[in-house]
Amino acid sequence: MGTLDGRVAFVTGVARGQGRSHAVKLAEEGADIIGIDALADEPTVHYPLATRTDLDETAELIEHLGRRAILSRADVRDLPALIAAVDAAVASLDRLDIIVANAGIFSLGAVLDIHERTWQDMIDVNLTGAWHTLKAAVPHIRAGGRGGSVIMISSGAALMPPPGIGHYNAAKAGVVALAKTLAQEVGPEFIRVNCIGPGNVDTPMIDNDVTRRLFMPHLEQPTREDAEKPDSRYVAVNALPVPWVTPADVSNVVAFLASDASRYLTGLVVPVDAGYLVKK
Ligand SMILES: NC(=O)c1ccc[n+]([C@@H]2O[C@H](COP(=O)([O-])OP(=O)(O)OC[C@H]3O[C@@H](n4cnc5c(N)ncnc54)[C@H](O)[C@@H]3O)[C@@H](O)[C@H]2O)c1
Repeated sequence: MGTLDGRVAFVTGVARGQGRSHAVKLAEEGADIIGIDALADEPTVHYPLATRTDLDETAELIEHLGRRAILSRADVRDLPALIAAVDAAVASLDRLDIIVANAGIFSLGAVLDIHERTWQDMIDVNLTGAWHTLKAAVPHIRAGGRGGSVIMISSGAALMPPPGIGHYNAAKAGVVALAKTLAQEVGPEFIRVNCIGPGNVDTPMIDNDVTRRLFMPHLEQPTREDAEKPDSRYVAVNALPVPWVTPADVSNVVAFLASDASRYLTGLVVPVDAGYLVKK
């Protein structure tokens, strides 16, 4: 018996990283999975995004658990494509109970130096894309009349914004505002809306040379081993002596927020951050 037996979840950015981990965890708890991913690199993003192979691997992991996976290519900036993907999958799986608005990008730039394209891509993907996800999917939860759970992946950066990524901080703070607003609007239908604010999470978003240089500008070629050293800045920003959490650590909280164990929790931002916020 899983905590989510018989339920259906929609996860964006499902091909790899946290999105894959959330989808697999929800499937372990009994949910069937609808998922989308853009499967395309972004010119303003300094690391490669997910591929078709990544998406296929996620589908295999879910199906290996005996759950159904309807995963397809769609960009969260494209509202008609999102609606088409979710409508078709819900028609096949009959219901929707859980949404994980997870897809996101990361790029760098001081507030006064950010290129307009970089700014716009960030807002379009991380903020407008999250809103599109709600527009495409919440009506299906509503139509079921059983209530449900919406989980939006924000960031610790929304609550305690570090320098050098103002556009990211602003987009993720917008996600928190959106979630808290929607929580009030759909609360009467027992649809709950919460955010998770991860600290650094060990995914390709931070495990790359450019992001490492943001944290360790004094090193010319900072490595993953440098980041993991006890005196590294990755470790120094957290209360607990770790450089990052794993996707599974975030997925455990996603599964809790998706389940009835959290049935009266709504409008919250739950940090999964090894004490990043408390340390500031
Ligand atoms: N990694 C971290 O340190 C960290 C910290 C806090 C919050 N987050 C947030 O967690 C979420 C997941 O990131 P991750 O760490 O797994 O990184 P990731 O890069 O491994 O995964 C992001 C996924 O989103 C997909 N994606 C990107 N743009 C898309 C678009 N326009 N439409 C559809 N899919 C798109 C990518 O292809 C990829 O599969 C993001 O919202 C990110 O901002 C990450």
